[in-house]
Amino acid sequence: MQTTAQELIDSGPNLSVGMLTADLLCLGDELAALDEAGVNAVHVDAMDGVFCPQATFGPPLVRALPDRFIKDVHLMVDEPLEKVGAYVDAGADILTFHVESTRHPHRVLQSLTGTGVVRGVALNPGTPVAAVEPLLDELELILILGVNPGWGGQSFIASSEARIAEVRTLVERRTTVIAVDGGITKANVQHVASLGVDLIVTGSAVYDGKAPAENARAMLESVRRARPVADA
Ligand code: DX5
Ligand code: ZN
Repeated sequence: MQTTAQELIDSGPNLSVGMLTADLLCLGDELAALDEAGVNAVHVDAMDGVFCPQATFGPPLVRALPDRFIKDVHLMVDEPLEKVGAYVDAGADILTFHVESTRHPHRVLQSLTGTGVVRGVALNPGTPVAAVEPLLDELELILILGVNPGWGGQSFIASSEARIAEVRTLVERRTTVIAVDGGITKANVQHVASLGVDLIVTGSAVYDGKAPAENARAMLESVRRARPVADA
């Protein structure tokens, strides 16, 4: 489902559910669980075995996902410049790459101008937030990693909270989606949503091999209960 930064902000905070720990042999059922819970965004972690030790999904999975979902693609691949086009062609609605993965992040963003995707830049926990400052005019989304990328099920790094606040200050009144990914659980999702985040990615807390629909519903309720910082 095509979307814009403004729509994501207006409808947020929202949940985007990662497929990494889903049962890939039953993907249709796994996605139906999201429908049942009212989740409309699917997060695809594309790892290349170089930027991250694992190799996971690529454009064919993005293409296979139904268009009723916002296809939220998180690229953890080296040198994304020559690779982003295949994800656009596959129907990505949000396309995020890592600032650490290329010497030319500005150029990657420029290459995505006019494609209709929400252009995102992700920050590893060890990367200063200021790294995205020169890119602010060319991006629509900043993804703050709450874990070091590579695996689902890791714990949220506590200092990420201060980094969310830093990003909020940095974007000021711009129409920039603030997103968080990694280590989000039923226990901390409401708190993270209250920090002024528009899009919250969660993976293993929903796809725990037991009750994805119930998990997703509970987490979505928590997210919607959270009050934005400005209103608190
Ligand atoms: C980390 C990925 C995340 C992660 C989320 O490399 O980008 O999307 O899989 O999974 P959980 O919610 O289990 O941390
Ligand atoms: Zn991710």
